[in-house]
Amino acid sequence: MRYSIFLVLFIVVCSTSLLSVTLIWKYYHKSINMRTLTLDIRQLMNCPHRPNIIQRELYRVILRSCCNATGEMILTNQNTKLGQKIHYETNQKLFKTVDKNLDSMLPKALPWSKGLLGHCAVEGSGGILQNSSCGAEIDSADFIIRLNLSPVTNSKDVGNKTHLMTINPSQISGYYNLEKVPQLLANRVAAYGNASLLLPAFSYQICTRPSLDVYHALRPLRPNQKVVFFNPNFMLNLGKKWKGQGLKEQRLSSGLILVSVAMELCKEVHIYGFWPFSLDLNHNPFPHHYYDNVGPKKGIHSMPDEFLLLLKLHTQGVLQLHLGRC
Ligand SMILES: *[C@@H]1O[C@H](CO)[C@@H](O)[C@H](O)[C@H]1NC(C)=O
Ligand SMILES: *[C@@H]1O[C@H](CO)[C@@H](O)[C@H](O)[C@H]1NC(C)=O
Ligand SMILES: *[C@@H]1O[C@H](CO)[C@@H](O)[C@H](O)[C@H]1NC(C)=O
Ligand SMILES: *[C@@H]1O[C@H](CO)[C@@H](O)[C@H](O)[C@H]1NC(C)=O
Repeated sequence: MRYSIFLVLFIVVCSTSLLSVTLIWKYYHKSINMRTLTLDIRQLMNCPHRPNIIQRELYRVILRSCCNATGEMILTNQNTKLGQKIHYETNQKLFKTVDKNLDSMLPKALPWSKGLLGHCAVEGSGGILQNSSCGAEIDSADFIIRLNLSPVTNSKDVGNKTHLMTINPSQISGYYNLEKVPQLLANRVAAYGNASLLLPAFSYQICTRPSLDVYHALRPLRPNQKVVFFNPNFMLNLGKKWKGQGLKEQRLSSGLILVSVAMELCKEVHIYGFWPFSLDLNHNPFPHHYYDNVGPKKGIHSMPDEFLLLLKLHTQGVLQLHLGRC
């Protein structure tokens, strides 16, 4: 009797979807402050995580039918033909025509996914990873996705294996004259071994030149390290899909894009370093990123909204969010 009361209590307290619905409701009605938010999330994260295979497969089907990362995530010879116009993600009136040079840079198909990838780790760059000791757990995944050239020097907390790394052209704006001086960038990306490098070459017009330069700079020096380009149609379709699910922001962050890719391509998805608030679960302040304290540009992404979406997916058992220590 006692035991069953305890069990019922446990189920009520740990009805994670109920907790997350209340939390999200409070957040949107602004009846929540940082302190209650972290308390609520801490309570949620204390509940055991239960993977839900039906929900997971449902999201895989939804993402495959809207966006098809397997076929459309990057520009390939399969989805992009010579002479075709590539329209920019953020301005459909602008386009680049695929010439012989660009055509020869594209891979035949998605280079790293033949069928489902296994256990994937997607690592955001949140300061919450500092002193997390999550490195070994992250490195034990079959496929590891990192974002925005994040460093892997502190391997105890963040791991040091990488299979896919995103780069935003702004992150390499310090490498002048890549054509003549490619070695510095080559040295920097050598830290990621043979990981493919993924750039949004056709999101904004200003991204194209530096992205293609990265390809040309690295090809002779790092022939095993592929440089690939996001397909702007994929980004648009994915953005529409999440906006249709209630997400309100101008553009998706690389983090949410890659988590979505993993939800389609991986059997299991674990995410680390996604925490957009300035206090941790114990109300201690910590830096914005695990490697610096520079915040994002205002007005483009809404990280708290994205976080609540990820929290919802966590409580639905679609993916597992890791906060705090491993
Ligand atoms: C996704 O793309 C692959 C490769 O182009 C294709 O074989 C498959 O039919 C596509 N799937 C959907 C659901 O469109
Ligand atoms: C990678 O990290 C592991 C511990 O997680 C460490 O033993 C290994 O030396 C690191 N490798 C490199 C190249 O830093
Ligand atoms: C990169 O790929 C090459 C060729 O497949 C292989 O010889 C090398 O060991 C790989 N390097 C790493 C760090 O995995
Ligand atoms: C991590 O540990 C270092 C060294 O003990 C300390 O200086 C730093 O403040 C800690 N960072 C966080 C976010 O706890």
